[in-house]
Amino acid sequence: MRILVTGGAGFIGSAVVRLAVARGHEVVNLDALTYAANLANVADAAQSGRYVFEHADIRDRSALDRILARHRPDWIMHLAAESHVDRSIDGPDAFVQTNVIGTFNLLEAARAHWTREGRPDSFRFHHISTDEVFGSLGATGQFTETTPYDPRSPYSASKAGSDHLVRAWAETYGLPVVLTNCSNNYGPYHFPEKLVPVVILKALAGQPIPVYGDGGNVRDWLYVEDHADALLLVVERGQAGRSYNIGGENEARNIDLVRTICAHMDELHPQGAPHARLITFVADRPGHDRRYAIDPSRIRTELGWRPSVTLEEGLRRTVDWYLANRDWWQPLLEREGVGRRLGTG
Ligand code: NAD
Ligand code: TYD
Repeated sequence: MRILVTGGAGFIGSAVVRLAVARGHEVVNLDALTYAANLANVADAAQSGRYVFEHADIRDRSALDRILARHRPDWIMHLAAESHVDRSIDGPDAFVQTNVIGTFNLLEAARAHWTREGRPDSFRFHHISTDEVFGSLGATGQFTETTPYDPRSPYSASKAGSDHLVRAWAETYGLPVVLTNCSNNYGPYHFPEKLVPVVILKALAGQPIPVYGDGGNVRDWLYVEDHADALLLVVERGQAGRSYNIGGENEARNIDLVRTICAHMDELHPQGAPHARLITFVADRPGHDRRYAIDPSRIRTELGWRPSVTLEEGLRRTVDWYLANRDWWQPLLEREGVGRRLGTG
């Protein structure tokens, strides 16, 4: 298939690009190359002969029309977004512009493209979203596909808005969409402003490891390559109009996750051990969601998806990867805002 992937120079988008190319698909990577992007993430895929890059912004409708007319994709996988909660607290504007208005533009461009192609049933607009749209859980329970939306940060509100637009385009115009809502990802090529790479790189530098609040917030972690595998399964076999929750059933309190990463660092980089001595509790994030947890029963039973790695194994691979790939992450530390506390309101 020819797949247009938006945001393919980012963390998850690049994992999708790499996997799709490896599986023989043709990929058009559309990305605006914001601070979060890195074309090095797809350098190998770019050598495959099945990959094209289009430098474009989803806020630019005419660019989207041109690119869709030029490449005539069978499927669109939409991952381009502003994705960092802390940045959304400091500057919500870009989140509304890209996540809401950009998704609206892409839906309209996709609808025009699908109509020109004769409205094929096999077309898919796959919208990639987050479990954060469901809000914050107490000590028990899990998010299912029918959990009411209750976003609480500018990031999650803008993603919720985009999810609603996508559903409306399916109901009103018959656009064949699928949606996925996934829990926190981690793994190679994770931009060094998110928790897991922050912990690894602060530990490596012997600097304080910032843990927000009391460290008791719970996230449900999924290895990024398992997410990419689930996304390709959904775009290929998911039922049009349906949404699928994706998660690895790997809940962890932040403080426990941080300690586990520190233990891997102690083993793989013993200089500076014990790294847990660097853990520093800092002021909490405003509106910090307490707990996320995904019930992945639908994608498991209907599509037969299972994650391939445990959290323990995935974290170990991730620590290994950062230790071996300084050339990848070192230049990113110079980008605006990286390494600095963001989102204190
Ligand atoms: P990321 O920030 O690493 O990458 C986003 C990519 O989108 C970047 O390459 C950036 O250049 C591009 N982009 C941003 N604005 C754009 C615009 N206006 N036009 C074109 N391209 C633009 O994000 P990520 O972590 O890879 O997340 C990808 C998607 O998955 C997002 O939609 C996010 O909401 C969703 N998601 C992320 C997680 C997670 O844990 N990271 C979990 C569930 C869902
Ligand atoms: P993050 O990676 O920003 O993802 P999200 O907020 O989308 O879940 O943060 C994951 C969790 O880690 C979240 O509860 C906030 C917390 N956190 C810290 O404690 N310290 C940090 O330096 C960062 C970036 C996050």
